[in-house]
Amino acid sequence: MKNEKLLYLETFGCQMNVSDSEKIASMLGEIGYSLTESHEEADLIILNTCSIRAKAEQKLYSLLGRFRELKKRNERLIVGVGGCVAQKEGRRLLRKVPFVNIVFGTHNLHLVADMVSAAEQGHRLVHVDFIDNDTRLDLFPKADGGGAVARFVTIMQGCDNYCTYCIVPYVRGREISRRSEDILDEIRTMAANGTREVTLLGQNVNSYGLKSPGECDFPRLLHTVASIDGIERIRFTTSHPKDLSPSLVSCFAEIPKLCGHIHLPAQSGSDAVLAGMERGYTRGDYLAKIEALKKARPDIQITGDIIVGFPGESEEDFQQTLSLLREVEYADQFSFIFSVRKETRAAGFADTVPYREKQERLSRLQQLQKGITLERNRSLVGTVQEILVEGKSRKGDQMFGRTDGNRIVNFTGDSSLAARIVPVRITRAFQNSLLGELQNEPGGGIHA
Ligand code: SAH
Ligand code: SF4
Ligand code: F3S
Repeated sequence: MKNEKLLYLETFGCQMNVSDSEKIASMLGEIGYSLTESHEEADLIILNTCSIRAKAEQKLYSLLGRFRELKKRNERLIVGVGGCVAQKEGRRLLRKVPFVNIVFGTHNLHLVADMVSAAEQGHRLVHVDFIDNDTRLDLFPKADGGGAVARFVTIMQGCDNYCTYCIVPYVRGREISRRSEDILDEIRTMAANGTREVTLLGQNVNSYGLKSPGECDFPRLLHTVASIDGIERIRFTTSHPKDLSPSLVSCFAEIPKLCGHIHLPAQSGSDAVLAGMERGYTRGDYLAKIEALKKARPDIQITGDIIVGFPGESEEDFQQTLSLLREVEYADQFSFIFSVRKETRAAGFADTVPYREKQERLSRLQQLQKGITLERNRSLVGTVQEILVEGKSRKGDQMFGRTDGNRIVNFTGDSSLAARIVPVRITRAFQNSLLGELQNEPGGGIHA
């Protein structure tokens, strides 16, 4: 047997899955697997899947189709499926795809290494049981101790909101807040190893701690994270508008390390559609919160998510969404056509909008947002932005980083700038990024 075993790991879906994949890679590293970019040479293939929309799920099956040949050529190849499709399909996946060796759900990450070891001995296994919250607190997967400049830190799992269209509560289980002392320990280790920016991660971080007796709430957690030496920037995602409290809004005025960006998905600008989605706020509530945020941090950048073609959405409802985009002036927007997930309540709603109409609405919405984004990017030309330098950009002679408001900036500079916060004058604006020039501070130095 070879000493070094190779793992090909492909991740779909949200940041939660990306973070889970980091943890999977680190746990499998402990039993001798190192990452490869090539599925052809892999001894183990793991697909960490997403089921948020039907298309995301189809991707898994088309990839598995491609791996069938590999498995024929190499009998020892182990194929594992994790994440949200694995959670939903469970044992069915083993039946549907006979060459899959292991299936692990979203609460079973901690079993991955043992499952792979069993698969090496020829076993086929499925672990998709949800674990009750008390036990889960002890099983919360930990991030590796690496010190990348900007890292994500999971502070919550699951979701209790049950928006009528959404599968997440069914595949991620009940909402649970990780212990704040564990979160802080993890961030301190990251900071000691070179991390400068953390993004606190959960499906709805605003409700952090509220269901855990004795635990602090989210604004308190932000203040404590801000007191950790070495951490220069803090972000969080995702926020549910209904739980955006006045004390969280105040954090944007009170905590200099908290970046001026918030991802606050509205989903729709129409009260009728918001009620059908059971989002728990009206357009008016949402706009009042946006106003408060802009008051607390006048340069705040707002991004969001929109679903078009929700069952019953009329042209008038859709116009309300377009006008919301103009009113909020989002820096950017992720937008999707409503996808029926049969486990959810909206699957039972009468879907009155023809698919062509949905496609048209999506493209009208995206056109509008593109214009707003470009205009906002252009308004930054000539300004000097503080950039946390993350690394070399795809163009070899440039470095890249993000503004406080989360826009990507490429600029001429060398690797010695990595992990520092430097002033960059914005010279050009594109749709998805900005171009800039490194500025020398008065006195000649560049501040770190
Ligand atoms: N917890 C986050 C969202 C996670 S899912 C929140 O509440 O904001 C990411 C996005 O996928 C959602 O914001 C929504 O816009 C989109 N989405 C979820 N279910 C969908 C569905 N059935 N069809 C289309 N888009 C969906
Ligand atoms: Fe899904 Fe709603 Fe929970 Fe977000 S808050 S994950 S959209 S159920
Ligand atoms: Fe997808 Fe699961 Fe995230 S469904 S969006 S990977 S929580």
